[in-house]
Amino acid sequence: MVTAFLVGICLALGQHILYTRLHHRNEDDEDKKVRMVLYGRALAYFSKVAFGGCVILCYRQRIWRTFRERPLSVWSIDQLFLATEDPSLFVNWETLSKAPLAVAMALIIWLIPLATIIFSPGALSFGWYFEISSSNISVPSLNFSAESYKDWRKPVIMADGTKKKSLMFYNTTDAQAASEGWFDYYDKPSSDLTRISLMTAYSGTTSSLNRPDARFESCGGNYNCTFSTTFIGPGYKCEEMASGIGDSGRLVEFGAPFNTSMLVPEGRNVYYADIDIGEYARPQSDNLSSQGGVPLGPIPEELGVFKVEPLLWIGYSINSSERLPDNSPYAVNWTHRYDPRIFRCVHYETRYTVKWNYTEPFFATEVSHDFVAPVIDTNFTRNADGTVNFDDPGPAENFISPRTDVLLYKKISAYHAMGQSLRNFLRGKLELEAPIPGPSYARVYSDITQTRLVSNVSSTPLDNLPDLIQAFYADMVLSLFSAPQMLVVSEQWAEVNRTRYQSTFIYHPEKLWGCYAPVIFLTFIILLLGAWTIWQDGTTWSVGFSRIMVTTRNSTLDDISRGACLGNDPFPLELMHTRLQFGVLNEFSEIEYMAMEGLQGVGHCAFGVPSELSPIRKGVPYAGLKRRSERRAAFKEKVD
Ligand SMILES: *[C@@H]1O[C@H](CO)[C@@H](O)[C@H](O)[C@H]1NC(C)=O
Ligand SMILES: *[C@@H]1O[C@H](CO)[C@@H](O)[C@H](O)[C@H]1NC(C)=O
Ligand SMILES: *[C@@H]1O[C@H](CO)[C@@H](O)[C@H](O)[C@H]1NC(C)=O
Ligand SMILES: *[C@@H]1O[C@H](CO)[C@@H](O)[C@H](O)[C@H]1NC(C)=O
Ligand SMILES: *[C@@H]1O[C@H](CO)[C@@H](O)[C@H](O)[C@H]1NC(C)=O
Ligand SMILES: *[C@@H]1O[C@H](CO)[C@@H](O)[C@H](O)[C@H]1NC(C)=O
Ligand SMILES: *[C@@H]1O[C@H](CO)[C@@H](O)[C@H](O)[C@H]1NC(C)=O
Ligand SMILES: *[C@@H]1O[C@H](CO)[C@@H](O)[C@H](O)[C@H]1NC(C)=O
Ligand SMILES: *[C@@H]1O[C@H](CO)[C@@H](O)[C@H](O)[C@H]1NC(C)=O
Repeated sequence: MVTAFLVGICLALGQHILYTRLHHRNEDDEDKKVRMVLYGRALAYFSKVAFGGCVILCYRQRIWRTFRERPLSVWSIDQLFLATEDPSLFVNWETLSKAPLAVAMALIIWLIPLATIIFSPGALSFGWYFEISSSNISVPSLNFSAESYKDWRKPVIMADGTKKKSLMFYNTTDAQAASEGWFDYYDKPSSDLTRISLMTAYSGTTSSLNRPDARFESCGGNYNCTFSTTFIGPGYKCEEMASGIGDSGRLVEFGAPFNTSMLVPEGRNVYYADIDIGEYARPQSDNLSSQGGVPLGPIPEELGVFKVEPLLWIGYSINSSERLPDNSPYAVNWTHRYDPRIFRCVHYETRYTVKWNYTEPFFATEVSHDFVAPVIDTNFTRNADGTVNFDDPGPAENFISPRTDVLLYKKISAYHAMGQSLRNFLRGKLELEAPIPGPSYARVYSDITQTRLVSNVSSTPLDNLPDLIQAFYADMVLSLFSAPQMLVVSEQWAEVNRTRYQSTFIYHPEKLWGCYAPVIFLTFIILLLGAWTIWQDGTTWSVGFSRIMVTTRNSTLDDISRGACLGNDPFPLELMHTRLQFGVLNEFSEIEYMAMEGLQGVGHCAFGVPSELSPIRKGVPYAGLKRRSERRAAFKEKVD
């Protein structure tokens, strides 16, 4: 009894442990999923067997007690013996009234499977689980220094066989890299960079390009995730230099190449860009071979030297939507006031901090710039009259030469190539035809209209153009991530906050223990009751055929049951209603009985009618085998 009870508890715990293990676990393999569920059910079944076994054993102790205490009809005795298979005892008034404890125990035997087998597996279900985790994994980043170490003669091959691509093409003074003092010098942005910058500009979207599987790659699986990366790259730092007609103070101070007189309403341009002053010349010399730009003859001193990184000087006019007063000098041609603005952007080495937010189905970036230093820290010198001498940049020690610091030169070349790719879209001007005499339309001499920097209503530049250009350039830089074969695309470790909806097992322990707690509690009470009954009776009981055989060896029963020896169904009704009890048969005469007593004689216990029985007493060895043989000997003697 105790073992069955303990085994039952262990199995329930086993089910709890199994379910705890499965809790929030995703199982894609359908077979395995089913198997896990079946394991849980098997445990529930076995715990039912164990608890049920314990209760049945106790129940058996209890019914014999009932048989001894009260005469019951054969009908009820049948029902009590068959209680585990036949629930009809629950509707029999005699059993209910005379053996309530046994009936209650039988009821529990019937209810245990309900709690264990049927309801307890319900504690494990499937559902969507919103998993929030954080993991330190390798995410894509940019490392422009990688360009420093690249030699176009030695291809860098990726694991999948793709050749890593550089951001720029080089010319060289010696393709074999053998001659004394050879060097490579910058030629132009590479085809891959050109492709990426074109695609970024033409995409027209406000986000950078990215590879299709970027979320999987960056989040380390099918997650939504956010993380931030930091890297050094090129960035444009824009500052406003003039706002409004005739605002020329800062323009003169910083040596602007044009003033607001170029812009509407004074001039014809609604957009005007001067962005190539000091641009790296291509070709660098008139005397280059057509193969790799090797100089024919002596190598010019300044071949490949970066002297100036061109500034972006951009002017644009914005329609203020306010009508011009009639007395305005511009009212001849213009109906509304136009505000001209000029700004300047300087190419900086920039520390980017990018917050990536990959949330299905989109991704978003939040870029913050931290400008470190100008890419090339030189300025044009001034003439004596204060005007800028665009032919004479300085100081010379800040020039970037391919002969001296090759690592720096290659990195600056990469930055320059990026900037050059952007400038292709900004170059040129937009002219606006005045509404009077009209009609008003924009005349386009720039690729800027192919980008998102112009209004989709009027094809004129948007209001916050300086910020937009900064962001547009940042997007162009971030779009490098769309091409993992680029040399500058590297990896970096980052703390990634990941979330995902996952179809998982979900375990509710309270449901499981809600099923098992009553079972364990009641089984324990019944176990105590059973143990107490055994202690009181001084013996254990069973209900096998042998026990029936030996407890019905009573001639009264033979008389009663005459004619019903087949055990056939239906059993004679009259017999069914006979009341029997279990006790010591008063079969011996007084003298015999005394003699038996003298022999420490053994009474004969059997079912019988109450009048011929006396109660069984504890401690009397009715059942002793040894006593039985003695008794037989005594009988033999008597017979003799
Ligand atoms: C960038 O790449 C260079 C050369 O491969 C390497 O030395 C440097 O450590 C890298 N920097 C970062 C931040 O990974
Ligand atoms: C603007 O530039 C033009 C020549 O390009 C010059 O004639 C004019 O004086 C300048 N205006 C101001 C306000 O400096
Ligand atoms: C590089 O060499 C090619 C071929 O001679 C030439 O067309 C090109 O202009 C050169 N680039 C530079 C920056 O000199
Ligand atoms: C300026 O804006 C006003 C109001 O939005 C509009 O009516 C007018 O046509 C615009 N001017 C030009 C030249 O587009
Ligand atoms: C301004 O308007 C006048 C008269 O309508 C016209 O003659 C002149 O060409 C216009 N100027 C411009 C720049 O459109
Ligand atoms: C990421 O984007 C989603 C929707 O695009 C937004 O709901 C979420 O708040 C964002 N997460 C962070 C950390 O900005
Ligand atoms: C170039 O000019 C800027 C101001 O426009 C100044 O801050 C910077 O120090 C100058 N650089 C050099 C090398 O003189
Ligand atoms: C046109 O521009 C406005 C303002 O920039 C923007 O809200 C709108 O979505 C754009 N329309 C299209 C079709 O891109
Ligand atoms: C990511 O978030 C979106 C929007 O909240 C949601 O529809 C999607 O199921 C999430 N993806 C994962 C893998 O959790």
